[in-house]
Amino acid sequence: MDSSRVICATERKRGKGRSRDREGKKTENMRKIISVELKARNVDFATCKTDLLAVGLFSDVKTLDRLNKELDGKLNGAINRLIKLGDFNGKDGTSAVVYGDERIGAKRVLLVGLGEKKKATLDTVRRAAACAAKKSVESKAQTLSLALHRAFGAALDVSAMGQACGEGTAFGSYCYDEFITGSEDGRLGSLKVALIDPDSATTQKLRKGLSAGAVIGKAQSYARTLANRPANVVNPIQLAAAAKELARGSKRLSCTVFDVKQMAARRMGGVLAVGSGSQNKPRFIVLKYSPAGKIPSTRPKVAIVGKAITFDSGGISIKPAANMDEMKLDKSGGTTVLGTMKAVAELALPVHVLGIVPAAENMPSGTSYRPGDIVKTFSGKSVEVQNTDAEGRMILCDGLSYAVKQNCDVIIDIATLTGACVVALGKYMAGLMGNDDKLIKQLQKASENSGEKVWPMPSGDEYAGEMKSKIADLKNIGSRWGGACTAAAFLGQFVGGKKWAHLDIAGVWSFDKATESTAEGASGFGVRLLTSYLATLTNTKNK
Ligand code: BES
Ligand code: MN
Ligand code: ZN
Repeated sequence: MDSSRVICATERKRGKGRSRDREGKKTENMRKIISVELKARNVDFATCKTDLLAVGLFSDVKTLDRLNKELDGKLNGAINRLIKLGDFNGKDGTSAVVYGDERIGAKRVLLVGLGEKKKATLDTVRRAAACAAKKSVESKAQTLSLALHRAFGAALDVSAMGQACGEGTAFGSYCYDEFITGSEDGRLGSLKVALIDPDSATTQKLRKGLSAGAVIGKAQSYARTLANRPANVVNPIQLAAAAKELARGSKRLSCTVFDVKQMAARRMGGVLAVGSGSQNKPRFIVLKYSPAGKIPSTRPKVAIVGKAITFDSGGISIKPAANMDEMKLDKSGGTTVLGTMKAVAELALPVHVLGIVPAAENMPSGTSYRPGDIVKTFSGKSVEVQNTDAEGRMILCDGLSYAVKQNCDVIIDIATLTGACVVALGKYMAGLMGNDDKLIKQLQKASENSGEKVWPMPSGDEYAGEMKSKIADLKNIGSRWGGACTAAAFLGQFVGGKKWAHLDIAGVWSFDKATESTAEGASGFGVRLLTSYLATLTNTKNK
């Protein structure tokens, strides 16, 4: 994404430090997110010229494999000495640097810990690549060569490892700093990554996976940036503009945006109620992906529905002040939908996908919706508002109804919906609910492939029972307990018998602090998961 192109309207008017970009729009001189250029190279490990060469080592494999032994030999045993000293043990999440000399092509060799070999998965490769990319950026090493796949031998598919490396390097090099002025720190503008192998057949396989990985990685970074932008930069109108711009860049994507008048004409009462308190008016964003060629009629038409609350103050049921700033990330479900649509279009997946993003700012004011209000939603069902801070379900229900009306066969919503989900699962996994076992299993499989973890949770009749109102069809909060489940059960009543799954990403929406493989801030969770799900749908056995 060309991040310099999007900036808030008020900033634009001020006219300081403006420039014109390719499209002639006025923009601030903002930093662009580090771009990652990826390729696969057929080259020998030891002679490969690079600023940083990353190799993987398991914690429970005591002897160096052929690649590492060769490097060690050329480095006069430096790798073995480092291991003997105990400065590196191959544990997951650890790494160590050995400096190269004229006998090898690399200026630095990064040993990346892969943990126990028997626990290794594709995500081990992805995280190792992310760790290497992050270290590269930190040490301003502009060329990074990855030989991580070598440690895994035949245990994993080579092409899948190529994809994981593409996704991982985007993830690890990502850092949200577009508002930081000055360039004294010499932060890299781009990172050049090569997956390397001396065998041309292996290089070819890596290359194949890498091209998909590059697309998905970029799409996730795009989602992270949109999510990270604060609420004075991304309001519903600006989010809609970003969706329009995304569609402009792809001939298979089209974007329709409903403004308040158009939503009112359609009686989208949920989105309108939540958006009524803010000066920044709500929008209903629809991105349609039309695949090329004829798609088998048995293949489901999928809707992905993302919650986009550009800021969640709680509204009249206002939130406590502490950490309220984090609620700029409450649009993460919506930004993940935009990122997924970008990936789907660039991968040219042969499946019909509708991206639906109801967007609103939840603010307290004289025009806000109130506790006690009864809202008529797009479905025709009435909802008694008992807490204006349970706003996500109020906008999502209209999004789900829209997907039903568009005749989608499968509906997946993704939302930073409940604090209760964070209490239940912590910050490692998203809650997964739904009404169709096969869909749940497919998403679990996609979760394994993508490394974005999910955990199944219930949302059946008991929970739905708590959402009954005495004076309307439904109310928007349940009892004190099982808040993630009651929220899901509320949503489940708007899917009109369609196959439906719900992802509560309130815990996984962000990293509180940087780790060895990622910067802090928005995670872009769901872009890899949903893209993986949509990609496997195209296997005929998965219809
Ligand atoms: N956006 C929040 C949920 C949230 C909480 C996301 C923490 C990420 C971290 C949501 O709109 C909300 O406020 N939910 C309420 C629901 C309650 C009023 C029933 C909550 O979880 O407290
Ligand atoms: Mn809320
Ligand atoms: Zn919210």
